[in-house]
Amino acid sequence: MSFSRIPTFVYLLTSLAFLLQTALGAEPLFHFCSDTGNFSAHDPYESNLHKLSGYLSIQAPPSGFGLGSIGQTPNQAYGLALCRGDASSEDCKTCVVEAGGEIRKRCPYNKGGIIWYDNCLFKYSDVEFSGQIDNRNRFYMWNLNNVSEPQAFNEKTKGLLTELANQAYGNPKMYVAGETELYGSEKLYGLTQCTRDLSSGECKKCLDGIIGELPSCCDGKEGGRVVGGSCNFRYEIYPFVNTY
Ligand SMILES: *[C@@H]1O[C@H](CO)[C@@H](O)[C@H](O)[C@H]1NC(C)=O
Ligand SMILES: *[C@@H]1O[C@H](CO)[C@@H](O)[C@H](O)[C@H]1NC(C)=O
Repeated sequence: MSFSRIPTFVYLLTSLAFLLQTALGAEPLFHFCSDTGNFSAHDPYESNLHKLSGYLSIQAPPSGFGLGSIGQTPNQAYGLALCRGDASSEDCKTCVVEAGGEIRKRCPYNKGGIIWYDNCLFKYSDVEFSGQIDNRNRFYMWNLNNVSEPQAFNEKTKGLLTELANQAYGNPKMYVAGETELYGSEKLYGLTQCTRDLSSGECKKCLDGIIGELPSCCDGKEGGRVVGGSCNFRYEIYPFVNTY
């Protein structure tokens, strides 16, 4: 019998990363600092941002979404926090509090920034953005493993995500998770979600846009995500959504 050591090694690394993550709290997936401008220490903008973080960490957890602004022009700060649709209020709160602190460390003097975790997204800016699709801030994640029949798999993925997107934009939470049969006993799992400052029409447009990026993001990959400032999707060949 022969086998490759490499997958075992990768598996161990993955398990170790998972254990570390569980022990030390969640790591951010990604962040961007915006280039709309800087502020200096003790600027009124700084205290507005601080208040905004506090406000969003209270407003978001009950429903999974918070939107608001603090202060007056030219020091007004706008922000939103979105938790993954399956996150409990407690996990949502933990994530939003963490995100608000971490993005301020990573972008200390930027007037805008955005940070993503598995459980939440936190965004702030000196420019009002509510209701507009964020086409600037976006990243991809994918599983390194290739599927054996990429063409059929890609079609299944696109089909599932399109169906979930069509349900999500009409859903009050703008979030839907679901699954579909693959071959044999295997299944494909997915989720789609928008920030709730978008209209349902804009949510659909946002999701259709990122689903159109599947070929660049995740062609033939066992799992993938396109994650933006206004909408995101994820698919995997294993269940990853919490059910309560
Ligand atoms: C903001 O600060 C950064 C880092 O100090 C600097 O590189 C950048 O040029 C500044 N941007 C503006 C718009 O002042
Ligand atoms: C998946 O396919 C890509 C492109 O063909 C290749 O570079 C990569 O090594 C493959 N990944 C694995 C885990 O086999």
